[in-house]
Amino acid sequence: MEIVTDINHLREIRRAWQVSKTTIAFVPTMGNLHEGHLSLVTQAKANAEKVVASIFVNPLQFGPDEDLDAYPRTLEQDIEKLTALGVDLLFLPNNDDIYPRGLEQQTFVEVPGISYMICGASRPGHFRGVATIVCKLFNMVQPNQAYFGEKDFQQLQVIKAMVTDLSMNLSIHGVPTQRDTEGLALSSRNQYLTEDEKRVAPKLYQEITNIASAIQSGRKDYSSLLSATKSNLVTLGFKPDYLEICCAETLMPPSHEDQHLVILAAAFLGKTRLIDNLQLNLN
Ligand code: PAJ
Repeated sequence: MEIVTDINHLREIRRAWQVSKTTIAFVPTMGNLHEGHLSLVTQAKANAEKVVASIFVNPLQFGPDEDLDAYPRTLEQDIEKLTALGVDLLFLPNNDDIYPRGLEQQTFVEVPGISYMICGASRPGHFRGVATIVCKLFNMVQPNQAYFGEKDFQQLQVIKAMVTDLSMNLSIHGVPTQRDTEGLALSSRNQYLTEDEKRVAPKLYQEITNIASAIQSGRKDYSSLLSATKSNLVTLGFKPDYLEICCAETLMPPSHEDQHLVILAAAFLGKTRLIDNLQLNLN
């Protein structure tokens, strides 16, 4: 695996691949890689001739009270994992190359509407930071395909909207959420959990699974389902941030015609904010 830190070097390699009409798949990450990230790489490997991964902890998507400095950085292990999966190129840009004029001067990509609701309402500016870095990385890597986890369902929808709105010439692929044996969605932030919290954490997914089963068996009183689940979560020790049933395409409240729904949840367990979601088809 070639490790590239310099944007010009990346562009040289990219140009050579362009000449040989090589299909390039891209997996952007913030590192501290686990099986969730690696499932994106495996999908990418299966569908393209060359796989590029990136690791960049993007300051623009962290709020002032979030864990930017504490975000786990495990570069050596990450390199081993990506090498073992046969990734062709790892792009490791530095902050000054990514934001040469500083964060204050940065031109932004903003996907309105969808960026301001649900997770975006709890984390103002977060999806602007995500859309901006992903757009910049797409400009640098110029992939034919890019892979994102359904674990961050709203992020995936924001990226798809950006690609459509800005006529970007690549396909976006969503990959199902990888979970541990208890059902907890894998996340770099799980390591912040105490032993007691680790026992409770999988219950977030169990609760949203219960909502999905209730809807599948005909329940239509979404708001009472949601409020009952929120109080269950509180009893279990969570501090719910949001819990919503949405149309999976627009993330708006579902209309009677919407058949593809998603249940989206975020909840604090101690200091750790967990997010999860579950899609369901009504037909
Ligand atoms: P990061 O949290 O490192 O995640 C990188 C990719 O891995 C994202 O597409 C995320 O949805 C996916 N992922 C994380 N956990 C997963 C799981 N349990 N199962 C499947 N996929 C999972 O998301 C980001 O980084 C950043 O916002 C980024 C897109 C890189 C922009 O900075």
